[in-house]
Order: sequence, then structure tokens, then C-alpha cells
Amino acid sequence: MSTTKQNQKITVPEIIAMKKRGEKITALTAYDFLFASILDEARIDIILVGDSGAMVFAGHDNTLPITLDEMIYHTRAARRGVKRALLVTDMPFLSYQVSPEEALRNAGRCLKEGGAEAVKLEGGESIVETIHRIVVAGIPVMGHLGLTPQSVHAFGGYGLQGSSAEAAERLKKDAKLLEQAGVFSMVLEKIPALLAKEVSESISVPTIGIAAGPHCDGQVLVTHDMLGLYEKFRLKFVRRYAEVGATIRDAAEKFSRDVKSGSFPSAEESY
Ligand code: KIV
Repeated sequence: MSTTKQNQKITVPEIIAMKKRGEKITALTAYDFLFASILDEARIDIILVGDSGAMVFAGHDNTLPITLDEMIYHTRAARRGVKRALLVTDMPFLSYQVSPEEALRNAGRCLKEGGAEAVKLEGGESIVETIHRIVVAGIPVMGHLGLTPQSVHAFGGYGLQGSSAEAAERLKKDAKLLEQAGVFSMVLEKIPALLAKEVSESISVPTIGIAAGPHCDGQVLVTHDMLGLYEKFRLKFVRRYAEVGATIRDAAEKFSRDVKSGSFPSAEESY
């Protein structure tokens, strides 16, 4: 199987080509320059400036409070760190639901002011017209189905979606509608693995799964979750690749001990 070349810039057509080649797509979130540049050096394919930043960066209880201006600020910071990856920005709650015109203007700001290369919108049938409007203006759109966190209050929490036969049918229909509206990929969040498999096999654009099993065309995680930095929840679907929160706490405790005992700074660390 051929794969993306070492320093090849990842573009929207390349993401679609990866599905055709059977090459899995990797995506992680970043909200600032430093994280974005490290993930880019690690050759992650898609760097998502997620509205999850409302929780893991800003400390809110859900993703609803983050504003478009804040998303653009985070995108500008991440932009400076990204050379290779495709940079995608989440459109925040109420920046695209009011009207297709407002959505297009706001999507445009993510590219013009933030430097994003694509935007992500949550939802199915109800936002198909909006997605089409953005896509025909030349702005690539990533869809997001299943557990769409901006609807947390409507769902009554962050539970599994698409588990009833009716909900599964609706999700399959929504995936087809998003494909027809022109999305270049879609996130499938917290749905049964077999439903994600069926959807992935039924559409030509890549599915990027989170809590959606192994059959998606790619996988995304919130970086602060998989690094063990955001420790508020321990989620079954998150593989912890590091314990960075514990490492930082340990380093800060050592620094504090050294300062209080007078062992830092030493003569060698002084001028
Ligand atoms: O906001 C976010 O980080 C996301 C991912 C979890 C897909 O939407």
C-alpha cells in the first residue's frame, strides 16, 4: 500500500485519496502554537482546533460558551505551528445555526482571519443547505454526526448515539446527505462500531471516528485526553499515551521543594 510522503503537505484531496488507498487518517486537537507544532512534527494528518478547547483549555463544563472570536484566536496561534497537516477549525455553537448566510460569513472568517484550511460543523439534515452554501464558496467542510457535543442539553448528556434501529437509520441517511452536500470527511462520534463500519463503507468520503470503533477511515482524539493532561474524566475510548499531567505536577512540586529549601538556584545557575 502506498502512503503519504514524508514531507507532503496534507490537503483536502489528499485526505480523500487516503481513503481510496486504504491509508488510515490521523487527527488530534490543538489550541495553540506549541502543541500544533509538536503534532505537526509528529506527522499527524489533521490538526483540529476543536471547540473542545472550551473544556480542556478554558475550563468550561461543555463546549457551548466558546465564541467565534476565541476560535479564530486559537486557530491563528495553531496556524503558526502547522506546516504539513491540514488545519481544520470547529465552528462554535450558534456561529452556523442561525442562517446559511451568517454561517458562510463565519466560516470565511475562520479561513481569512484564522488561517484554517477547512471548517467542521455538527449536525445532519438540518444543516445540509448551510454546508452546501459553504462548500460552493470554496470552503472545505468536515461534517460531524453521532454524539454532537453542542447538542449536549438536547441529548441530556454525552451518551452513546445511534443505538436504536431508528436512530441508526437516521444517522445513515444523514451521512449520505452530508456526502451529497459536499463534505470532504466527517467525524463519527460515540456510535456503535458496527454502525460506523456500515456508514464508512457506504460513503466515498473518509469517516474520522472518536469512540466509534476501529472501522472508520481515521481516528481523532482530544490531545489533552490522550496525553493525560485533562484528568477530569477517565473515558473508555481514550487510550492514554502519556501521563503529562502527573509529570507536570511532579516537576512543579520538585521546583517548589528546591526553592523553599534554598537549593535552587545553585551557584552554577547564578551569574
Ligand atoms: O471539539 C473537538 O475536539 C471535536 C473532536 C472530539 C472531534 O469535535
